[in-house]
Amino acid sequence: MKGIILAGGAGSRLFPLTLVASKQLQPVYDKPMVYYPLTTLLEGGVREFCLISTPQDLPRFRQLLGDGRQWGLAIEYREQAKPEGIAQAFLIAESFIGGDAVTLILGDNIFYGGDIFQRAFADFKSGATIFGYHVHDPERYGVVQFDEQGRAISIEEKPKQPKSNYAVPGLYIYDNSIVALTKAMKPSPRGELEITDVNVEYLRRGHLRVVRLNRGFAWLDAGTSSSLHEASAYVQTIEKRQGIKIGCPEEASFRRGFLTLDQLEALTARMPRCEYREYLEKEVIAEARLVVS
Ligand code: TTP
Repeated sequence: MKGIILAGGAGSRLFPLTLVASKQLQPVYDKPMVYYPLTTLLEGGVREFCLISTPQDLPRFRQLLGDGRQWGLAIEYREQAKPEGIAQAFLIAESFIGGDAVTLILGDNIFYGGDIFQRAFADFKSGATIFGYHVHDPERYGVVQFDEQGRAISIEEKPKQPKSNYAVPGLYIYDNSIVALTKAMKPSPRGELEITDVNVEYLRRGHLRVVRLNRGFAWLDAGTSSSLHEASAYVQTIEKRQGIKIGCPEEASFRRGFLTLDQLEALTARMPRCEYREYLEKEVIAEARLVVS
């Protein structure tokens, strides 16, 4: 399974924060926002990534994430000249996707809790898998309606009168037919290739699976000043209480077996003295050495 991180867009709701640095590079508590979606896919076993962003922001992402080798990954980069829709990502990344299945995550979506995505990646065979999350303001999102048997029967983009409270979060899994399907699509009246249109088409073909995320699961989107602040506060609360880190690619790579303990140790030793390094040394490396010896 290949992974696309979509990290373009205007970020206009975060003005003036986004005047010189894109939304997905802003801090969410103790790390850049893009670390969280990257780690979500990494925890699910994705090792090959394509990050898509604007021509002006792409160099910064390269500077931050490099080619991914330091974390046992491969990261490629592609430009989206204009924000012409989430589904445009599949056209931009066509050569990266090749003949594989692909998962796309939005660079400002933060997920926490449980292994539901890991299982969805592992179980994925064909068609499309998306998720449904209960929210109080579904009209801001793509909204999925279920029948009595829990099967999805409709998906609507930002409906004025939502048919349910289930919004579709920014993590989608598609088989390889996604490229041909997107090529055949027309832009919506607002001039975008809509991800909801993609999902509606999979639904029409009878190839869409919608997994409901349970109550204990957190989905935060950090697109406005208050949601960005709330996401930071949430991460801080969990991290302080549990003494763990959310969205730490070094740790996730190591736990997934993409980095050996020695490699993790060498990587950590190159970091400046800081709380992030201390966490990796004390909570990850020391603990793992204890298990080994
Ligand atoms: P939005 O939050 O809808 O848009 P935005 O990031 O441009 O923000 P604003 O509305 O404040 O101007 O986008 C959701 C995510 O998808 C966000 O991470 C940006 C990304 N995106 C792209 O990278 N390219 C696109 O063409 C679109 C529509 C979104």
